[in-house]
Amino acid sequence: MFKRLLIHAAAPLAAAVCLSPVQAEMATKEMLTGTCVACHGTDGVSAGPAIPSLSGMTRNYFATAMLAYKYDDDPDGLEKAMAELEKDKMYEDAEMFTRASTIMGRIAKGYTLDEIKRMAEVFAGGEPSVVQQSFDRSKAGDGEELHEEYCDKCHADGGLSPEDDVGLLAGQWTPYLEFTLADYLEGRREAPKKMRTKLKDMHKEHGMAGVQSLLHYYASVRK
Ligand code: HEC
Ligand code: HEC
Repeated sequence: MFKRLLIHAAAPLAAAVCLSPVQAEMATKEMLTGTCVACHGTDGVSAGPAIPSLSGMTRNYFATAMLAYKYDDDPDGLEKAMAELEKDKMYEDAEMFTRASTIMGRIAKGYTLDEIKRMAEVFAGGEPSVVQQSFDRSKAGDGEELHEEYCDKCHADGGLSPEDDVGLLAGQWTPYLEFTLADYLEGRREAPKKMRTKLKDMHKEHGMAGVQSLLHYYASVRK
């Protein structure tokens, strides 16, 4: 009996000591992302509608978002970190756009560039997931036309495609997208120049009703 107990007690200890390099690497990644999953979910689908789901975003999008949050009050630091990131072949053509945040600025400051890259391996590149939300069919129809006219050139597949590091629109939580579009329209988040023009044109022509139609459309898109 005593001997069995000893063996059982010793087994996990041995496992902990004899980690292969791959296992050790995984342990660090899990430790790194432990605080993230409380809000963003274990499979990249977030717990609540004001928190974006991370599933399906590209490496470039993930890493540049984290750097924009981390250096939101330090443009020189941001420039240096971007130069460092671009040296890595995995992050070729990464483009960074500055961002405002409610919470991510504080969180991202706790991680080094190296740790951000390791977290990208966990969160980036997965299957985009689509959260099921209610929507108004007629507004979604108007939104589809607006999307095709102003947005689909870059946000392909009705906003489902993360290609070219554009982030995900279709299936993303509506309240998060609504805050984000307000940030863009009011200049708190930097958009690529062409997107800024398209969004402004759309807003000028169709007003906030146009923004609402787009939101209903993105909630309606299915894979
Ligand atoms: C307390 C909840 C919370 C925690 C913990 C948290 N996040 Fe966030 N995250 C948010 C919110 C809310 C946003 C939207 C930006 C904002 O307002 O801060 C966001 C935005 C993001 C975005 C941008 C998503 C997009 O679509 O552009 C990334 C990337 C991200 N978080 C990664 C992480 C990582 C990596 C961790 C762990 C180190 C983490 N987050 C921890 C709440 C959280
Ligand atoms: C010229 C290409 C282009 C066009 C046109 C464009 N976008 Fe974008 N969009 C981008 C890129 C690139 C990003 C990623 C920016 C970043 O990394 O912060 C983006 C990001 C976004 C995001 C943030 C996603 C997130 O998860 O936080 C939203 C929302 C968005 N675009 C909405 C729109 C809407 C609505 C339209 C049409 C009115 C539009 N975009 C047109 C290129 C474009």
